[in-house]
Amino acid sequence: MQNEKQLNPKLVEEIWDFKKKRKAIILAHNYQIPEVQDIADFLGDSLELSQKAAQTDAEMIVFCGVRFMAETAAVLSPQKRVLIPDMQAGCPLADMITVKDLRSLKEKHPVATVVCYVNTSAVIKAESDVCCTSANADRIVKALKNKPEIIFVPDKHLAAYASRRAGKDLIIWDGHCPVHIGISVQDILRQKKAHPAAKVIVHPECTAEVIDLADGVFSTSGMGRYAKEVEAKEIIVATENGFLYKLRKENPDKEFYPASEAAICPDMKLITLKKVLWALKNMQYEVKIPPRIQKRAKQALGRMLEIT
Ligand code: 13P
Ligand code: SF4
Repeated sequence: MQNEKQLNPKLVEEIWDFKKKRKAIILAHNYQIPEVQDIADFLGDSLELSQKAAQTDAEMIVFCGVRFMAETAAVLSPQKRVLIPDMQAGCPLADMITVKDLRSLKEKHPVATVVCYVNTSAVIKAESDVCCTSANADRIVKALKNKPEIIFVPDKHLAAYASRRAGKDLIIWDGHCPVHIGISVQDILRQKKAHPAAKVIVHPECTAEVIDLADGVFSTSGMGRYAKEVEAKEIIVATENGFLYKLRKENPDKEFYPASEAAICPDMKLITLKKVLWALKNMQYEVKIPPRIQKRAKQALGRMLEIT
């Protein structure tokens, strides 16, 4: 497939020029469209992107992902200007819990420790004790095993997975990722029948029934490492399909099959090269977090980074 970079070298050049001028770094999530993945200085999962945002000495971060990710970068690097090329790029899962919801849950369980998935707004992180990502949710819960009660928000499938792995009951919020719960047991079984030698890798936002069919359960970057290391030459991938571009690029000798052709996150696809250039030129849309929220949200993220 010919991508926008080949079709539009001038656009790519302009992005490079503006990036230099603004002393900017482009961070992109693994689900971004191929041409955005290609232009990124760093491509990764939510945990890696948070770490990169915390470490970079660039003056500006252009975040190619969804809003909660750009907010996380702004929380970790308040002295930097963080831009998202399309403010409409949200996460339906993150929107499934409000501060009011979380406060009333905390009132019902006053001694509970609150773990929030990184797929939450900065205000939810500010109301939480510790954050986690799909790469470390089980380790975070394990590290808190001695706490009498743990609230886990907002993804019930990731929570159930972490609970099972850590052997600890959790108070679970009823949220889900519409993209990952759309991947069914039938999808996996159909692909396994078509490709009997293939390994199956699954994102922990999928349902427990799908997770039970997996050879490995990983965050997107965990999947990337597994794909490189495993001897198998065929892999069925149960996550958002944008990630297959990176998997195929890094492993040209292997075949990757999407568990479901329908596993596409429309929000992740809102970012385009044209919008990246527009963002750099106009220094928009800036993601700003009020200092009081930033400070508290940073503590929850900081605790996660300490534990992991
Ligand atoms: P990862 O952190 O595994 O890349 O996942 C982020 C996400 O939004 C999953 O839907
Ligand atoms: Fe949110 Fe799901 Fe899209 Fe990830 S794939 S950004 S969790 S809606």
